[in-house]
This record gives sequence, C-alpha cells and structure tokens, in this order.
Amino acid sequence: MDQYLVFGNPIAQSKSPLIHSMFAQQTGQELQYDRMLAVKEDFIEHLERFFSDPQAQGCNVTSPFKELAAAWVNELSPSAKLAGAINTIKRMPDGRFFGDTTDGPGLVQDLLRLGVTLKNKRILLLGAGGAARGVLSPLLSQQPALLMVANRSVAKAQLLASLIDNAALQSCEFETLKKMTLPFDLIINSTSASLSGELPKVADSVVANAGCIYDMSYADKPTVFMSHASQLGVKYVYDGLGMLVGQAAESFCLWRGIKPKVEPVIQALRAQL
Ligand code: ATR
Repeated sequence: MDQYLVFGNPIAQSKSPLIHSMFAQQTGQELQYDRMLAVKEDFIEHLERFFSDPQAQGCNVTSPFKELAAAWVNELSPSAKLAGAINTIKRMPDGRFFGDTTDGPGLVQDLLRLGVTLKNKRILLLGAGGAARGVLSPLLSQQPALLMVANRSVAKAQLLASLIDNAALQSCEFETLKKMTLPFDLIINSTSASLSGELPKVADSVVANAGCIYDMSYADKPTVFMSHASQLGVKYVYDGLGMLVGQAAESFCLWRGIKPKVEPVIQALRAQL
C-alpha cells in the first residue's frame, strides 16, 4: 500500500492522519498515512529512511522542518521557491522529489468556500513570519486591490513586500493602520499571537471597520482575536480549521490526482474539537 506521513515537532496533536484517512475513504484511494516526530538534527536522516521504502510516495512537513525540507527536494514549485519553505513532498515518476507549499491555496480555497471574495478587495495581512510568507502569492493571484502586510517588527513586513513585484502588495507598521481612511474588507491574522492567547496591537477602529476577519489559528473555541473582533461588532469572523483541511486537500490532490471534498471533513473535525 502507498505510504505517506507527516513530520513535525510537536506532532502528537496533528490532525493530518485523520484528515487524509477521511479523504482516502471518501475517494476510494488505498493508502496509509502516519505521523513522525523528529528533531532538526535527525530530520533529513528520517526523511531519507522513509523514502528508501519504494511504497513511500509523499509526505507532509510541518514546523520546524519546512525550510530544511525545501532545501532537500530536487525541484520546487514557484510559490515554494518564493516561500523558501514547503509542506508537501511528492516522489515523482522519475524518482526525483518535488516540493510544494499548499498552505496558501488552502487559505484561498477556504475564503472562497466561505463566500469571501478577494478580487478588487482591500486585504490586511497581520504578521510577517513563515505563515504570512507562504500565502502572499496565492492571495495576490486573486487580484486584490490592496494586500497590506503589517507586522510588529516592521522591517520583516517590508522584506515580505519586497519579495514580489506587484503594486497591490504594500507594508506598514501597526500604528500606521489607524491613519488609513478606507477600511479593510478582510483582515487575516497570520501572527502566532493567538497561540499564546495574545492580541496583535492593532487599533480597535481598524478591526471594528473590517468587513470580515479570518484567523489562521483554530481551537475548540474562538481565538482571542476572533472574540475581540466579534465584541467590536464584526459580523463575519472565521477560524483557520478550513485552511488546515484545504491545504491537506491540495496535498492529497498533488499526490493522488483527485480532489477530495473538504466540507464533510471540516464538519467532522469541528465536531471533535
Ligand atoms: P509562523 O511560521 O507561525 O508565521 P514565525 O515565523 O515565528 O511563525 O512568525 C510569527 C509571527 O507572529 C511574526 O510576524 C511575529 O511578529 P514579529 O516578527 O514582530 O515577532 C508575530 N507575532 C507573534 N506574537 C505576536 C504578538 N503578540 N503580537 C503581534 N505579532 C506577534
């Protein structure tokens, strides 16, 4: 049977094995998907041992191995080159390894599923770490009027905005946002602040005037950023569970050539949170 797995640290809580087994069942594909804990020092050794099995067809890679994996593969997709990081490896028919990042397509797919249009819209992306970098080009491909990257450390936001030559892509510091007269249609929180129960220090007026809020994090209850936005009166507030399933669906499609339905899997996961 074809073998897949996800590498990460920590990895015990990963929902990827469950998601991919639901995809496999739904599409009638026969495969096995496991999880593997590694440390940075032995990640490549584990990766090579996994792929020494001819039945190993691909794997996912999560934090903190995304950059190491990008350096290991033989070929990168254009968006993976830009991100400098990958979450998916596929063994190609010629035996070489292809790396891609499916987080951005997963995010875009989820926003469109939720009915959030991106074309000609004003989007604010909070954060300029790995999570933000991976979604820049898929968001820009939807042709927003503006994609403003704002970060606590503004130099990192400026660096991200310099990566792609696109007039819609701009950067600023949190403080500058409240001076902007036009509101944002969508604010995406890509900071890791939610994980530690913190709020990015963005003025309440900026959040309150947003048409919609999307937090890339998710939990069994709304994140602090989601609760904050709801309290400020934002009507459309979403978490990143659909993005998680969306990126998995993109990986599955890359490996198996078949696109699974995300909605039933999102519902099943939501019920278990
Ligand atoms: P990830 O891969 O999840 O993006 P990362 O590369 O470590 O992780 O980036 C974390 C991001 O969250 C950064 O943009 C960070 O801001 P700084 O660059 O200023 O450190 C942001 N972040 C983390 N905690 C934050 C907080 N409490 N408020 C605002 N931004 C925060």
